[in-house]
Amino acid sequence: MNSVPAANLRVLSGMRPTGRLHLGHYHGVLKNWVALQHQYECFFFVADLHALTTDYESPGVIRESVWEMVIDWLAAGVDPKAARLFIQSRIAEHSELHLLLSMITPLGWLERMPTYKDQQERLKEKDLATYGFLGYPVLQTADILIYKAGLVPVGEDQVPHVEMSRELARRFNHLYGREPDFEEKAEAAVRTLGKKNARLYRELRRRFQERGDEAALQEARALLEARQNLTLGDRERLYGYLEGGSRVLLPEPQALLTPAARMPGLDGQKMSKSYGNTIALRDDPDAVAQRLRTMPTDPARVRRTDPGDPEKCPVWRFHQIYSDEKTREWVQQGCRSAAFGCLECKQPVIDAVVAEIRGFRERARPFQDDPQLVRGIIAEGTESARDVARQTLDEVREVMGLVYR
Ligand code: TRP
Ligand code: SF4
Repeated sequence: MNSVPAANLRVLSGMRPTGRLHLGHYHGVLKNWVALQHQYECFFFVADLHALTTDYESPGVIRESVWEMVIDWLAAGVDPKAARLFIQSRIAEHSELHLLLSMITPLGWLERMPTYKDQQERLKEKDLATYGFLGYPVLQTADILIYKAGLVPVGEDQVPHVEMSRELARRFNHLYGREPDFEEKAEAAVRTLGKKNARLYRELRRRFQERGDEAALQEARALLEARQNLTLGDRERLYGYLEGGSRVLLPEPQALLTPAARMPGLDGQKMSKSYGNTIALRDDPDAVAQRLRTMPTDPARVRRTDPGDPEKCPVWRFHQIYSDEKTREWVQQGCRSAAFGCLECKQPVIDAVVAEIRGFRERARPFQDDPQLVRGIIAEGTESARDVARQTLDEVREVMGLVYR
């Protein structure tokens, strides 16, 4: 789909600190981060400012959740050597870009956000008729654009926000990326590519502009990506020239839809804190085993001899996540023929979940024992992310007229 060399794409994602993470977070989000961190340059952050937009009345929860959440990430295998881990509010550049972008954000875009009305409905007990909550997607856009991230792993519910960040990037580039002599400068930039590459660039640009050939556009971008010695201005012009008449100051990101791992809770509903059916990443293994032993199964299996239907059983959903093909076959056969009881059926799931949790606890231990270790990891990630954020913000300030010499 995307022929831009992977190593040159930045991945960015944030998570709001709202409490202990559970297996739903692991199978739905963190496992994905862990896989991405070795493929891309990754930025993962604690979205504490986003948490404030809805939980401004209870800052204590945020304060208590931040470090525990980072420990959960580390326990899940997020590797601070592979990804930059940081806290959003510690990089003031996010907030400044949020403010600057707010200047060009049409109110209608925000009012039309599906999440805006939905959340107000869903969180009736909170007063979300605030300026900060309305601006939530602008803050998220700032998070993404400040790192010029190419890919944003998110769940389905967040796709409209990423879409909005694309629209804001486009609007920004249109407003501030235009220069009176753009064409001339772009042509001069093409010539710096050297004879062969200049010819290739022009050919690819023509194919895209005349026929909308997406593959040609991707190939041209890859060509630019591979050129290490372009000046920033020329790079922005050459990207912009492929598609139109302005520099690409802030590239448009893409949502990377996290495959919806429908992690069931202990009652078969979606695993969620509000249903009280969660298994936390670092729960006590014995207690978890006990809860799994007593979780409900297909109600048709009243007696051991009654056949059941895995489709009507939450345990089956666990097998789908934790068991191999052979075990799943065994479940299907044995359940429908009443060859074994539910407790026996649960055992492979219990073993797998307990092993997984033991692994998390093991990996978390050094960080629990020495909180300074976590503080250090975040300090380092924050410094390193801030360097990138500052560069972008300098450019933004410049084109928005905020540089006085
Ligand atoms: N809004 C996201 C959520 O609730 C969290 C978030 C904040 C985020 N900023 C982001 C996700 C930037 C991706 C990119 O899940
Ligand atoms: Fe569920 Fe397994 Fe019992 Fe069938 S045998 S009802 S799949 S726990």
